[in-house]
Amino acid sequence: MADLHVEIAGIAFKNPLIVAAGTPTLDAKNMIKCIKHGAGGIVAKTVTYAKIHQIQPRPRFKIIHPEAVDSGFFSLYSVELMAHLPPEKWVKEIEKVKPIARQYDTVLIASIAGRNLEEWSKLASLMEEAGADMIEINVSCPHVEEDERSLMGKVAGSDPKVLESIIKAVKESTSLPVIGKLTPQGANPVLMGRIAERAGIDALVATARFQGLVLDIDSMKPILWGGAGGYGGPWMVPMSCNWVYHLVKSGVKVPIIGSGGIMNYKDALCFMLLGARAIQVCTAIIVKGYSVIESIVNGINEWLECKGYTSVTEIVGKAVPNVLSLEELDRKSVYKSSIDQMRCVACGRCVECCPYNAITLDGRRARVITELCQGCGLCVSLCPVNAITLVKVS
Ligand SMILES: Cc1cc2nc3c(=O)[nH]c(=O)nc-3n(C[C@H](O)[C@H](O)[C@H](O)COP(=O)(O)O)c2cc1C
Repeated sequence: MADLHVEIAGIAFKNPLIVAAGTPTLDAKNMIKCIKHGAGGIVAKTVTYAKIHQIQPRPRFKIIHPEAVDSGFFSLYSVELMAHLPPEKWVKEIEKVKPIARQYDTVLIASIAGRNLEEWSKLASLMEEAGADMIEINVSCPHVEEDERSLMGKVAGSDPKVLESIIKAVKESTSLPVIGKLTPQGANPVLMGRIAERAGIDALVATARFQGLVLDIDSMKPILWGGAGGYGGPWMVPMSCNWVYHLVKSGVKVPIIGSGGIMNYKDALCFMLLGARAIQVCTAIIVKGYSVIESIVNGINEWLECKGYTSVTEIVGKAVPNVLSLEELDRKSVYKSSIDQMRCVACGRCVECCPYNAITLDGRRARVITELCQGCGLCVSLCPVNAITLVKVS
């Protein structure tokens, strides 16, 4: 067994999988399930004084492309807001979870969202008193609208001055390490990450979900609950990974926790190889169940063992030097497409789509006009029967 321990802001995690704030942590019962399924840490659902975020719309979940849940790029569209209990009652949930978290060696993180600096401070001290090991500031919630003029969610997380003032207020109110959760919407997470670091943040989550709007064209109304919702899923992984990479490259020194679309151990490894010290997972647990926690942790372990690593920390950032800059991209090599005539079904898709008009349909054969082929690779990706390959010619 490889050593899966990681350290974030002086706190030891038994493994790098942290359950992100959300449905899997919406009350003590669910949080305990995450703990018993082996999570290294859990982030309790965000607690707030804002009543509008405590009462949930119904219905509130819709899976877009449910047929792809086990194999491809579905989206989870939802409007689950924050913890349903007010802070004074939420404290009891944290207190209930604390002894179990201690027994299983799981880090308990409280997520908070204030509407003003006083609330941010009050929530931070309340959660520390309740027994949280760390505080996460939710400055990423996609449901917070611009016109609320509150210091919450993605609105707060995309305003440098507001973000700075929240971090300072929270840091002054707690002795616990504070994690900042960056929004990918309306903000540049690298810029906001640097601002957060300057303001004293101890770790960063990169990143969270987007806000989306799914419309029914017949009724001309948004589906189900009637308004916008959070939008995310496995298709986000490359975007979220890209932010992790750019944060690392920008010289941000605080630990980064990768998040956004992780479905399996391979996704988790991509984030860690690009510099994330740990990962947060929410949607995968919602759609696949709590056993996905063990499956990701075990998958990471088996991969490490198979590759001969003894500790997960050895792989953090290992792929960063392999990422080429725009200037460094290979512009010298020459490739040409080659069609396997035994496989080609003459569907004509490559002919239709080739941007260089370099493929023709010749009776029942698609044929590459070598002089015109630019070796761009589009036909290889589009061919429904994998009949096309790229051949390096120089
Ligand atoms: C239904 C649902 C509820 C969520 N609730 C919260 C929340 O209360 N606080 C928070 O900071 N993030 C919340 N999130 C965001 C997740 O913590 C996470 O950042 C995001 O979903 C990206 O990770 P994932 O792709 O693994 O789900 C929620 C996400 C979903 C899908």
